[in-house]
Parts: sequence; structure tokens; C-alpha cells
Amino acid sequence: MKTKSHIIIVSNRLPLILKQTDDGKIEVGKGAGGLVTAMAPVLQNRNGTWIGWPGYVQETDIDDNMLPALQSAASGYSVKPVMLNSEELKNYYEGFSNSIIWPLFHDFTDKCIFLSEYWESYQKVNKKFALIVCQNADDQDFIWVHDYQLILVGAELRKMHKRNRIGFFLHIPFPPIDTFARCPWRFELLSAMLEYNLLGFHTIQDKRNFIGCLKKIIQDVQIDAKAELDETVSEVRLGNRVVRIGVFPISIDYNEFFLKAWDSNVYKRAKEMRSNAPDTKILLGVDRLDYTKGIPEKLKAFQMFLTLFPNFHKKAHFIQLVAPSRREITAYADLKLKIEQLVGEINGIFGTDDWLPVQYMFRTLDRNELISLYRTCEIAFITPLKDGMNLIAKEYCACNIDEKGVLILSEFAGAAQQFYQDAILVNPHDIEGMAKAIHRAFNMPLEERNQRMRNLREIVKNKDVFWWLNSFLKAAIEKDLSSFPQADEYSPFKPV
Ligand code: G6P
Repeated sequence: MKTKSHIIIVSNRLPLILKQTDDGKIEVGKGAGGLVTAMAPVLQNRNGTWIGWPGYVQETDIDDNMLPALQSAASGYSVKPVMLNSEELKNYYEGFSNSIIWPLFHDFTDKCIFLSEYWESYQKVNKKFALIVCQNADDQDFIWVHDYQLILVGAELRKMHKRNRIGFFLHIPFPPIDTFARCPWRFELLSAMLEYNLLGFHTIQDKRNFIGCLKKIIQDVQIDAKAELDETVSEVRLGNRVVRIGVFPISIDYNEFFLKAWDSNVYKRAKEMRSNAPDTKILLGVDRLDYTKGIPEKLKAFQMFLTLFPNFHKKAHFIQLVAPSRREITAYADLKLKIEQLVGEINGIFGTDDWLPVQYMFRTLDRNELISLYRTCEIAFITPLKDGMNLIAKEYCACNIDEKGVLILSEFAGAAQQFYQDAILVNPHDIEGMAKAIHRAFNMPLEERNQRMRNLREIVKNKDVFWWLNSFLKAAIEKDLSSFPQADEYSPFKPV
């Protein structure tokens, strides 16, 4: 007999991954990230289940021991893997998810490949996820679906007559109507979103964009005048269905980063890194390989900075870390070549035998190594062309325990809506503007750096990933929405 309702998390990727070693064996690895850290205690406490894909391993590669191994790696909650075959990987994951929704929602419509076989596969795989949810959910369970790969899961569950409370959180931006309207399946996607009880977005702008699309595309929907104001959680109605729409900017486990930044090994490593470049100031970029991250633009900005301010030659160093991602998709492979070409060009033009202007690393660094870099570098240079939130910006601030660092941040990152007062905001399309922002950051007086970084750290500390999770769960179950704060409390950035 159950005593309390369970929670079921559904995401494209499981927090655990199955990977094949060089000698062909399959091993279980832990996925990193704030979402896992935040969810784990809730799942353990509510005897929860996480449903998702365990990574690039075919079903046929898995032997009988694998599933128990996967299960035992997830301490305190159940894991239900959803295996994807190569056709599904191609059409659902690389196709509809990453060659339609991803570019469309990030405003890269020229990269969208609107193929109907992608749409067919997306529907089938969403249904496949929903079936596994259905097999594992009791009527009282709260089901929380994550991100753009699984928009249709709620609607599929309704077709299976599931009446549970179901929430959905979109981890990427929601585009404005002019962009969204290009999608041939715009009506189907929006209608499916209205099958959830609660929809969560990162920013007020995303919520407004979503409401704007509803107004144009789903005519029967009733939108409360209040929903268009800046309230964080509001309601829309379709017939007798009520859908809550909220703004919940995701964050990191502040304490985890803060404590690791104090670790003596991290301190030693940071000191070592610093002694390798004693008379230079270091600019740091950390991004997943993605055209949304604006990596070529920031390399060009650094090049312009060196051109405009030659007194910084041999005094400035740019470390750009790029984590491999989605390399099977042509746009990603092309981007890698473009980055490598630009790095070569800058080092070729400006480098000397004792100074390498750009240090480029194409790999995933381990957590301690990354935190040491956060501690070492004077400036974080985070300039996506479009980003749902950007957690690197938050990690940098949490680790900046001496409060001397500067954050240069794109105004098109969701994080800018929280950080606009104390980061140096830049337009990543304005190369010269970014070059001047680097100069400003390098010259910023210590007192101003301290003040700004202290403010940024306060925001990350007060609105950490646990705050995010609790706000979402509260919005899903609370009867009365009046207890929700007004948007002012989130310091909404006034978009240009
Ligand atoms: C973004 C998405 C996530 C996704 C991650 C990595 O952060 O919002 O849903 O998991 O990128 O991308 P990948 O395609 O490797 O899962």
C-alpha cells in the first residue's frame, strides 16, 4: 500500500549513462549536473522513478546484468531506461529534436530541416516514453516531463486516459510567434503543451512568447488579462481545462560549487594554473559545442580586442573550453572546424614564442579541474547568441569566492534577466562592443568588481536549484496562486 504519491521524472537522458569501453564492455557512468543533484533527494524521499534514455548504446548490446547495474547506481530511486534504436536516434533525436525544435526555439530558422519523417518519429518516440510512464505511474503520482525532446508525452498520456497531475519544464527558450509560426506542426505542439497542468519556463520573455503563440494559433484559449502581466504563475483555460504557466529560472547547487571552490586541491591547482601565466589576465569561455553559444563571435571579439588594444599583447590570455556534443549533426561538425580555424588564425597573427593568445580545449573537463579554472580566471566570457539560462555563468559566480572576477554575459542568455545589473551585458552580434567590454572588464577597479560579484553571488545563493525545484512543485500543487511572488522579485531584464 502506498502512503504518499510518488514523483516520476521523465527526461530524454537519464542521469546515468551506459557507455561502451574500448574493449567493448558496457559500463554505467553517472551523469553530472544540477538537475540530478536537485532531483535525487526528492526522488529518494518520494520513492520516485526516473525514466529516460541511457545514452548511445543499442538494446542488443545490453546483457542481463546491465539493467540491475543501472538500477543500483541510482541510489534510492528507480530508473526505467527507454532504449532508442538507430532509426529513432536519427529521426527523433538528431532529427526532430535537434534539427527542428532546437534551432527553431533558439531562433536559428535557417538550420531547421522540416522533414515529415522526423515528425513521425518524434510522435512515436514520445508515445514510447509515455507508455513506460503509464506502466510505472499510479493515479496519484505527480509526473514531471522535461524539455523539448518530450513535448508530446503529456498529450500521449492523456490519450492513455491518465488523469494525473503532469508538469512540463522547458529548459530552452520559447520563441516569439514570428519564429514559431514557421513550424509545420505548430498547432500540434502547442495543443499538446496545453495537456499539461503546469508549464514552466525560465524567463518572463519565454512565457510571454508562449502566450503570444497561443493567442494566434489556438483561437479557443481564454487568456486571463493578468497572465500577460508579469506574474510568475498564471492560468489559461481551454474549455474546462486549466493550465498554469510559470516562470522558474533554473539554477545550480550553489553550496556544492562554493564548497568545492574552497577545497585545498582546487586551490593548489588554481595556484599552479596561475603560476603558468604569471603576468597575464585570463579570460575564460566554457561552452558545449553548439552554434547557439556564439563561440566564433567571441573569438572574433577577442581578436578585435587584441587589434584595438595592443598594450594587452602578452598580458591577456583566452582559455576556451568546448565540450563535445551532437557531432553526428552536420551543423555541429562544421562549427568545430570553424572554431579551430579561428583559433589558428588568432594564434598565427598575434602569437609569439612566449605567448599563445588563445588556448583551446575540445573535451569535457572533470569537475575539480573546471572549478580550478573558475577560480583562476579573472573574467568569464559567456556570450551565447541565444540560451535558455546558461548555468556556466552561475557556476563561475558561485566559485568566485575571492569576489574579484568579472562576468561578461550575453543579453540573450536567460541568466541576463537575473544578472543584468551586475554582469557586463553584451550583444554577441556586436563584435566591437564585445571587444570593448573585454577591455572594460580588464580595467575594472577592484572595489567595483567586488561589489558586482558579491551581488551576483547573492542571487545564485538565494535562488539555487533547490529553490527552483520547490517553486515548480509548489506551483503544481498549490490551490491558491496569490502566494506566488510578482515578477519584480525576479528583477526582470527589460529586453531591448
Ligand atoms: C541542453 C538541453 C538538454 C540536453 C543538453 C545536452 O541543455 O536543454 O535537454 O540534454 O543540452 O544535449 P544532448 O543532446 O547531448 O542531450
